[in-house]
Amino acid sequence: MFWKKAMVLMLTAMLAFPLAACAGRQGSNSAVSEESVTAGETAEEGNGNILVAYFSWADNAVLSEDVDAVTSPSVIPPGNVQQLAGWVQEETGGDLFSIRVTDPYPSDWDDCLERANEERGADARPELLENVEDLERYDTVFLGYPNWWYGVPMALLSFLEQNDLSGKQVYLFCSHGTGGLANSVELITEAAPAAEISDDIFDCYEEEAASSEEDIRGWVEELGQVVSGGDLVSDLSGTVTITAVEQEE
Ligand SMILES: Cc1cc2nc3c(=O)[nH]c(=O)nc-3n(C[C@H](O)[C@H](O)[C@H](O)COP(=O)(O)O)c2cc1C
Repeated sequence: MFWKKAMVLMLTAMLAFPLAACAGRQGSNSAVSEESVTAGETAEEGNGNILVAYFSWADNAVLSEDVDAVTSPSVIPPGNVQQLAGWVQEETGGDLFSIRVTDPYPSDWDDCLERANEERGADARPELLENVEDLERYDTVFLGYPNWWYGVPMALLSFLEQNDLSGKQVYLFCSHGTGGLANSVELITEAAPAAEISDDIFDCYEEEAASSEEDIRGWVEELGQVVSGGDLVSDLSGTVTITAVEQEE
């Protein structure tokens, strides 16, 4: 159903929103000035070496009173990625950071799709409300996002361009519709070319996000035991250790 709707919207958007017009839209709503905060200040403060950063529509929407909970399910908190991020945070003891834009998205599904598609067409970089302070203290970053238009919300690229993850171990987790990860990993890799992005990625279908607690906690736990040919791997307690290659019996 999503794809049918999406294709119609994409065609509509392509006709109705010339790229030049879209490009002008960003930045026109920057009433809130950019500021930096320590990630831990926005939520729980925990393991000082691990950052759990995520983008979720529910954290980036203006909720109107008549929001349709049926057609726009993931705009009602908790959002899908928001929930996943919460479990990753609990499992790792890391600091939680919600990537938020200064100009939130509509809570109506179709309107949100349309704006996201405009931003994608314009290769926009939505302005962020906050950036991570003291990013250098994090060795490991868990980065969560939804698939938006076969890729990522453009704000995720703003985040990656403004918060340098070079040299850090990055683990991706994603919630999506029927499109899966699509081009998201390529886009993230392009925006953070010097980050150590693991190809062990957690992803789940949107309707299964709410029941994925055990799976995502298990994934985090397994990452703690990941052995990658003597490479540096985080043991998730905050220390970075060099591990031996596991021998098969
Ligand atoms: C603007 C927008 C675009 C989307 N584009 C896609 C897509 O191209 N492919 C897909 O599989 N799902 C797509 N989805 C569905 C989301 O990836 C999915 O519902 C996800 O679980 C939402 O996570 P969240 O609640 O944390 O925002 C889109 C959702 C939105 C709001």
